[in-house]
Amino acid sequence: MPVSVKPQLSQFALDVAKGLSQKQKKLSPRYFYDDLGAALFEAITLLPEYGLTRADERLIGLHAAKIIRETGALWTVAELGSGTGKKTRRILEAVSNLYGSTIYRPIDVSSAALAACERELSGLMDVQPICGDWMEGLSAAVRSRQSGAPLLLLFLGSSIGNLDREDMVSFLRQLRSHLQPGDFFLLGADLVKDKVAMLAAYDDLTGVTAAFNLNVLGRMNRELDANFDLSSFAHEVRWNIDARRIEMHLRSQRAQSVCIEALETIFEFRKGETIWTESSHKFTEDELAFYASLSGFLPIHTWIDREWPFAEVLWRAV
Ligand code: AVJ
Repeated sequence: MPVSVKPQLSQFALDVAKGLSQKQKKLSPRYFYDDLGAALFEAITLLPEYGLTRADERLIGLHAAKIIRETGALWTVAELGSGTGKKTRRILEAVSNLYGSTIYRPIDVSSAALAACERELSGLMDVQPICGDWMEGLSAAVRSRQSGAPLLLLFLGSSIGNLDREDMVSFLRQLRSHLQPGDFFLLGADLVKDKVAMLAAYDDLTGVTAAFNLNVLGRMNRELDANFDLSSFAHEVRWNIDARRIEMHLRSQRAQSVCIEALETIFEFRKGETIWTESSHKFTEDELAFYASLSGFLPIHTWIDREWPFAEVLWRAV
């Protein structure tokens, strides 16, 4: 008897199948970042409306030496979601100036971004890129520890904002479980601010964020043989006041069926139905300190940008 072997579905395919079968269709924001999506995100960081990355860079530029004086000499600097590592340069320079060159282990899902990161920073540090998911990457990054000096884990740019609040503490505890007492965690988190400014940051007039959002449909077309018509979905941004987060959606402009060949499935969209593609949570200082205390960290110091309220918090694992 002939046996038909179906090719194994990727995690992306499985998550799409699950996400598009829910009543409120959903996709994880991690799937924004194929090589095109990572490049579009880099463009977002240059938008006049998107103050977040500049605030993060200003804080790190101003305070890198202070941060690294707090940590003392380090065995390794690891970074979750490093991208091209552009804003990390200042931190690595401070480490190198104060204590000499060490190891930098950037963790990212985009191999193109990691390659750029290695090109940019290998003159400064021993760059050991890790391509993969955050937690798997982190467990690889803490391997082969010989020196007694601590690790500094960076999680910048408010990437943590993509997590749902109810998952925050378990995520931070999981991070903590890969660290040793005395290790440091530097977290960048965007703060609640004026609603108009928050909405504009995700709905820029140039349309870059719309392209970034729509690219996830393009990615399904490319990688899963889907036939999404990108011109019949509209980028939509909402401020959810109760959950204190920006939500991005893709709204179907008409009733339509979309075939995803890799899943051998047709998905129906009603006119006006949305796919919820991202949540970007916004925080308060007190809330961040509360998370530290619940997940095995002691807050050491907080730096805040006044121009675009954004916080850089340094915690020590206890
Ligand atoms: C990379 C998750 C911090 O939520 O602000 C930017 C991603 N989405 N514009 C954010 C994003 C739309 C960004 N993070």
